[in-house]
Parts: sequence; C-alpha cells; structure tokens
Amino acid sequence: MSDRETTRVFVDCDPGIDDAVALAYLAARPEVEILGVGAVFGNNTVAVTAQNALRLLELYGRPEVPVAVGAERPLVQAPRLAEHVHGGNGLGDVELPDPKGEPVAESAAELLVRLARENPGELDVLAVGPLTNVALAIGLEPRLPQLVRRLVVMGGAVEVAGNVGSHAEANIVNDPEAAEAVFAAGFDLDLVALDITMKTVATAEWLDRLKEVPGDRAERTSAFLDFYAEFYKGIFGLRQCAMHDPLAAAVLADPHLVTEAFEAPVRVELTGTLTRGMTVADRRPRPRTDERRACRVVTSVSEDAFLDLMLDALR
Ligand code: BDR
Ligand code: CA
Repeated sequence: MSDRETTRVFVDCDPGIDDAVALAYLAARPEVEILGVGAVFGNNTVAVTAQNALRLLELYGRPEVPVAVGAERPLVQAPRLAEHVHGGNGLGDVELPDPKGEPVAESAAELLVRLARENPGELDVLAVGPLTNVALAIGLEPRLPQLVRRLVVMGGAVEVAGNVGSHAEANIVNDPEAAEAVFAAGFDLDLVALDITMKTVATAEWLDRLKEVPGDRAERTSAFLDFYAEFYKGIFGLRQCAMHDPLAAAVLADPHLVTEAFEAPVRVELTGTLTRGMTVADRRPRPRTDERRACRVVTSVSEDAFLDLMLDALR
C-alpha cells in the first residue's frame, strides 16, 4: 500500500468537532475517494450527526458523497451524548448552512456492506465514533473483515488513562459490546487510541497559524476548534486540543506518519464494575490462549509532519 495510491474510504463518524477535521483532512486529498459516510450517535444524536456530516461534506467540497444514517443507540446500553465537549449542535455551536443534500435510504451498515462487496479488498474504513454501525455491518455480512482492506479505529485507552472514565475512552465505552465484536472479527486493524491522540495536539501556535489561513473552510474549522480548545483547556491547562479523529484519518491516508506501534490482540472489558469499556491489550510475547488477530496499536507519529498536513488540508 503506497501512500499516494488512490485510496477508497468509508468513514463512519459522529460529527463532532474532531470528526469534522478528520473529514476535512480526507476531503482535501485528491487521491482519497470517499465512497460513503455513515453517521452514528455519539457526540450528538444520529439525526444531528447525519445532518452535520452532510453540512461538512458540502463545506469541504465533497457534496456528492452519500451519507447514510446509522445507529441511534448502542447495542445494549442507553446512549450518552457529549454536548459539553462538542456544543449543542455537535460543531461547537458554530452555525453552518442547512445541507442541500439528504441522507440516502440505506442504513450506514447497509451502505458499508454494499461498498465492501463492490470493492472487495480495496475499501479502507475509518471509524471515529462508537463502533455500533461497524458491528451491525458484520452482522449483515460476516465476511466484512475479509472484504475490507483495512480498518482504522479511533478509540480506546490501552496503556493510558481514559477520558470518560478512569479506564474508558468515549468511542469504546459508548458501545462496548459493539467494540468487542469489531475487535473480535479479524480485521486488519490499526488502533489510534488516547495513547497517541492525547499527545498529538493542536497547540496554541498551530491554532493561530490556522487563523491566518484564508477561506470559509479554514475559518469555520478554526471556529469549531476554538470551542474544542476551550473544553480542552480544562484538561491540559493550556489553549490546545487533542486531535483524535484527524490523527486517525492521517494514519489511514498517510501511513508513513506512524513511527512506532505494537501488535497485540485487544479485548474490551464488558463486565468490570470499574473498568467497563476498557481496552485490554494482551502484550505477552506469545499469548497462547488467544486466537484473536492482533491489531496495531499506534504509539508514536511524526507530529510536526501531521500538523503541517492538517494545515495544508485547510488551505
Ligand atoms: C473520541 O470521542 C469523541 O468525542 C471524539 O469525536 C473522538 O472520536 C475521543 O475520545
Ligand atoms: Ca468522533
């Protein structure tokens, strides 16, 4: 897989400020064909995230991409949204025009399955929300892990603290059963967890550089990120924000940015009283009892190169 070959991508997301920036990153790349976008509940309701996906694809110049509405709730538990992080409208309370397009009739899981069948071995999937749609798609097509070339997931906190609970990251804990089904399914899977996303941040200096970039796309994105940085100030004590979903988009489109990763099977804790939603990597050299395919857990990236590419995408 070369970095500049045409890459066909399905994006499953819950936009979401950082989801928006991930879409901007991919939309700016001529060699990335976004074949479809699935919306899922998460940062807001699925009704809102689907409308936001349409708005964002129009803003970032890909209005033709089909958007499918996905799951409105997790497989088992009740949904929890994140308006305090992403604003009441999911986009930092920044108003975008109503979308001209509408969601397609297929569900997100159906669209993903159809695209995977039409592009066997050639479709890359970027999942940056709760994994409900991907789990439902496996239910519809058990060969999905073989049909898809590669799955990049933003989620989990493998060897670092969680962000929703002491051990739990939002995308995984928002649907632990779905996440466990996805990790068990046998995808060629890159995991972009808090281990790397919390140390790959848009700094105040980078946010200021973005403000200098002319044009609607950069201006709106800068406004989204100002809201996000305000939330993250409470965590970092500085005006900066973690770039979770855009980093996962970069790992998909620019795999050379990854400088270190370890391979391990990952399971999701489903029953722990304190640890439900925890991503547990088995790092024993030869986990003899584990039949599960290992995934690559990203632990280091070329941060400056990533931030430069992210800025380029908004120029
Ligand atoms: C993840 O949770 C969501 O709020 C973000 O969009 C990102 O996908 C980070 O934990
Ligand atoms: Ca997200």
